[in-house]
Amino acid sequence: MAVQTIDRASGAQRAHKAKAGAIAKAKALAPSLAARIGSTPATKYRGDPNIFGRLVEDHDRHRALLAMIEQTQGDSADRRALFKELVREVKAHAAAEEQALWSSVLREPKTTDFARHAVAEHKELDDMLADLAARDMASSGWLRRFAEMKDEYLHHIREEEQEQFVAAEKTLTTADLKYMRGVFSRRKKQEKGRREGGEKTQAQGQGLSAEAPGFKCVPHLMDQSRVASTPAKTL
Ligand SMILES: [Fe+2]
Ligand SMILES: [Fe+2]
Repeated sequence: MAVQTIDRASGAQRAHKAKAGAIAKAKALAPSLAARIGSTPATKYRGDPNIFGRLVEDHDRHRALLAMIEQTQGDSADRRALFKELVREVKAHAAAEEQALWSSVLREPKTTDFARHAVAEHKELDDMLADLAARDMASSGWLRRFAEMKDEYLHHIREEEQEQFVAAEKTLTTADLKYMRGVFSRRKKQEKGRREGGEKTQAQGQGLSAEAPGFKCVPHLMDQSRVASTPAKTL
C-alpha cells in the first residue's frame, strides 16, 4: 500500500513536471505573455516515458501556444511569431504522429476506426490553419476564425488522450510504445527542420519577410497511396 502511494505521488509529480516543461517551451517565444492553460482533461499518459507521454507533452505545448495567441492584438510581432511556431509545431506533430502511431494502429481491425478518425481530423485542422495563414491577422475575423480552430484542436487532442490512445494502447506492447516514441521524435525533428528550411527558401525567393507565417501543406495518411506505401507494422 505504501509503495502504491509513493508510485501515485511520483506519477503526479512526473505529470506536473512534464506539463510545466511543455508550457515553458511555448513561453520562451514570448516571455511577457502569460500561458494560462488552466486545468487540462484528465489523462493517465502525462509524464509517461512512452509514445503517449511524448504526444501529451506536445499537446500541452500547443495548448500553451493557443492560449498565448489569444492574448495578442492585431498584426503584431508576437502574434506572427507564435502563430508561425504553432503551425510548424502542429504540422510536424501530426506528420510524426501519423508515421509513428496511426499507420500501425490503422492496420489493426479493432482500432482502424480510431486511427481514421484522428487522421481525418488532422486534415480538417490542416485546412483551418491554411485558411488562417491566408487571412489578414489585423482583420476582425482572424481571431474569430482562430477561436474556431482552437476549439477544434482542443477537441482533437482531448479525444486522442482520453479515447484513441486508450484504445490503441490495448493492441500495442511496451516495446512497441517505446519504439514508437523514437520514431516520433526523429520524424518530428526532421519535419520541423524541413519546414524551417522551406520557409527560408520561400522568403528568399519571393522577397517575403522571414516572419511570414507561410507554410506548405503536408501529405497526410488520408492519401491512400501513402498508406499503401507505409510498411505494415514495422515494429
Ligand atoms: Fe493528432
Ligand atoms: Fe496528437
